[in-house]
Amino acid sequence: MLKTCACINLMSTPSSPIWLDAPNVGALEKEYLARAIDSGFVSTVGPFVPEFEQRMARWLGATAAVSTQSGTAALHVSLLESGVGDDDEVVLPALTFVATANPIRYVRARPVFVDVDLDSWTMDVDLCAQALTERTKVLLPVHLLGNPANMDALQTLARQHSLTIIEDATESLGATWNGAPMATFGDFGCLSFNGNKTMTTGGGGMVIGADPERLQHVKFLVNQARDESLGYYHPEVGLNYRMTNLEAALGLAQLARLDDFVARKQRFHEIYAEQLRGIRGIRLQREIGPGRSSWWLNAVFFEHEDINVSELQKALLARGVQCRRLFMPIVEFPPYQDFAKQPCTNSQRIYEHTICLPSSTLNAEHDVEHVCATLKELIG
Ligand SMILES: Cc1ncc(COP(=O)(O)O)c(C=O)c1O
Repeated sequence: MLKTCACINLMSTPSSPIWLDAPNVGALEKEYLARAIDSGFVSTVGPFVPEFEQRMARWLGATAAVSTQSGTAALHVSLLESGVGDDDEVVLPALTFVATANPIRYVRARPVFVDVDLDSWTMDVDLCAQALTERTKVLLPVHLLGNPANMDALQTLARQHSLTIIEDATESLGATWNGAPMATFGDFGCLSFNGNKTMTTGGGGMVIGADPERLQHVKFLVNQARDESLGYYHPEVGLNYRMTNLEAALGLAQLARLDDFVARKQRFHEIYAEQLRGIRGIRLQREIGPGRSSWWLNAVFFEHEDINVSELQKALLARGVQCRRLFMPIVEFPPYQDFAKQPCTNSQRIYEHTICLPSSTLNAEHDVEHVCATLKELIG
C-alpha cells in the first residue's frame, strides 16, 4: 500500500519541480525566432517552412515532409489523402491519446479499436488481423510513448489485405525499427511538435511520406487546395493547416538539438530501468523485436494491485515530482463507446496501474535518480 504522508521519511524536495515533459527551449530558439521576426515573415509564408520540412525529411531519411498546424491535422490530412471516407474502417489501438481517433470521425469513417499487448503497450497484431473486414482501409498503429509497434507484422498484414498504413508517430520521434526511424514505415507517418513532445514548434505537426506526388497533394490540401499557378483558384475543398514561419524557426533550432534530446531521454530510461525494475512489482514498457524506443515518456506499471496510482500521483506531485496518469482507453469516451467491439482488457489494466514519470530533457540525471528514490520511498 502507498504509505500515507505521515509515515513517509521526508526526503529533500527540489526547489523547482522535476519536469514531466516540459519543453527545452533556449538561446538557439531565441536566435532563430529573432531572425524570423526581423525578416518580417511571421506567418505561413517564409523561408523557414520549406527549410524545416527538408531538414526534417533528411533527418528521418524520408523522401518528403509537409508541415502542418498540429499532429491531429497531420493525421486528418493523411486520412483524406488515403481516400478514407463514409463508413470506411480504420483499425487503431484502444490505448492512445484521443487525437488518434478524432480525425477518423472528421472524415466520417469508423474507428475499430484493438487491444494492446502487455509488454509493448502497442496494438496487438493478432487482434488487429481478427478485426479486419471488407470495409477496412487503414491500419493506424501508434508508437505509444515512443515505443515502436510491430511494423514487420503490420506491413505484412497491410500487403496481404491491400491496406494503407498511417503511423501515428507523434510520440516517437527518434525511435527506430530495424534501425530506420519511425514515421517512415507507413504510406504516411505523422509527427507532432506540441510543447510536450521530444521537440516542439510551440504547436505543429508534419506528414512524412515516401511518395513525393502524394506529399505534393498533401501540401496543396493544407494550403486551402490552392492552385497557385491560377492565382486564387481552388479545384478541391482544402484546409488551412499550414505551419507558420515563426513555428518553423523554432523547429529548425530544436532540430539542431534533437539528437541530444533523444540521447538524454534514452539515458533517463536506462536509469529508470536500472533503479526501478522489479521493485514492488514495477514493470516498464518493453521494446519488441528490432524496435528501439525514443522513451518520450517513461512510465511504470505496478503489478501489485494494492498500489493506488492516483494517490501515488498526488504524493509525487507534493514532493515536486511532476507525473501523470496514462491515457484512458478511448472506448471509455461517449463518442466512441458504440465502436467498442473487442474487449480491451489490457488497455484498461495498463491505464489503471500506470504512472508516467519525469522525462523532460530539462532534467538532469540526478533528478531522475531522485525520482527513483522518492518512488521507492513512497511504495516502500
Ligand atoms: C498519440 C497521439 N496522437 C496524436 C496527437 C496529436 O498531436 P497534436 O497535439 O500535435 O495535435 C498526440 C499528441 O498530442 C498524441 O500523443
